[in-house]
Amino acid sequence: MSQKCAIVTGAARGIGLATTDLFREEGWHVAMVDRDVEELRKVVAERDGVLGVERDVSNPQDVGAMVRETLDWAGRIDALVNNAGVAEFGPVQDCDFTTWRRVMETNLDGVFLCSQACTDALKETRGAIVNIASISGLRASTLRVAYGTSKAAVAHLTKQHAAELGEFGVRANCVAPGPVKTKLSMAVHSQAIIDAYHDAIPLNRYGSERELAEAIVFLASPRSSYVNGQVLAVDGGFESTGVGLPALRD
Ligand SMILES: NC(=O)c1ccc[n+]([C@@H]2O[C@H](COP(=O)([O-])OP(=O)(O)OC[C@H]3O[C@@H](n4cnc5c(N)ncnc54)[C@H](O)[C@@H]3O)[C@@H](O)[C@H]2O)c1
Repeated sequence: MSQKCAIVTGAARGIGLATTDLFREEGWHVAMVDRDVEELRKVVAERDGVLGVERDVSNPQDVGAMVRETLDWAGRIDALVNNAGVAEFGPVQDCDFTTWRRVMETNLDGVFLCSQACTDALKETRGAIVNIASISGLRASTLRVAYGTSKAAVAHLTKQHAAELGEFGVRANCVAPGPVKTKLSMAVHSQAIIDAYHDAIPLNRYGSERELAEAIVFLASPRSSYVNGQVLAVDGGFESTGVGLPALRD
């Protein structure tokens, strides 16, 4: 296949689905990976130029199969977007080891496994890895001991890959989204959290899936050919500002 091919994990909905659609608009094929089989089949049936890959990124056998199925279909992998993620919020002392592992196995182990499994194919295309972290990995805040720590590790893992894979022409970058109204965030954002985010974000609103997709596809494409090892906060200005913003706005 002469067209470029991206693997997008967690593609059945939310940011991963919007990223899939922007890749398609730009002429890429997309292997859509998700463990939510029902939702994945539905969205795959509605799209051309995609392959549904019903796999769990935290399972090494599944990840090996994901790469084989993609290569059998497209013959190449030009970009890997490690987007699949889970969020569980709760106080530090209530985060039992099972919860901790459930968050880490998808958010961190999954990124490690998928990146490693795609490395040979990415070397062939001089392709790119784009990892999806979070502002919760850039700044600590309440209730996110597992989630925030997993995302901070993803930002660093990105730099490890950039450092070692650069000599093969493979770039690795990271997007740290601010809040976006998706199933993931709405399950853990109370009204108080939503209000607090509005106050703390200079743009004074949540982002959209499409706004995240724009940054992700840019970092996956040759348009960012000299950008490597970076963490880009796509967050309406949250990360760059300090205390006192709402008072100053008034
Ligand atoms: N929505 C936000 O506010 C927000 C903010 C910061 C970061 N993020 C990050 O963006 C990414 C996408 O989030 P979203 O809001 O679109 O979430 P979402 O819940 O809408 O979509 C995530 C998708 O990933 C899939 N998934 C989860 N674990 C998986 C696994 N082990 N294997 C395969 N598929 C799996 C789910 O089935 C789901 O379809 C996540 O990494 C998330 O942590 C989101």
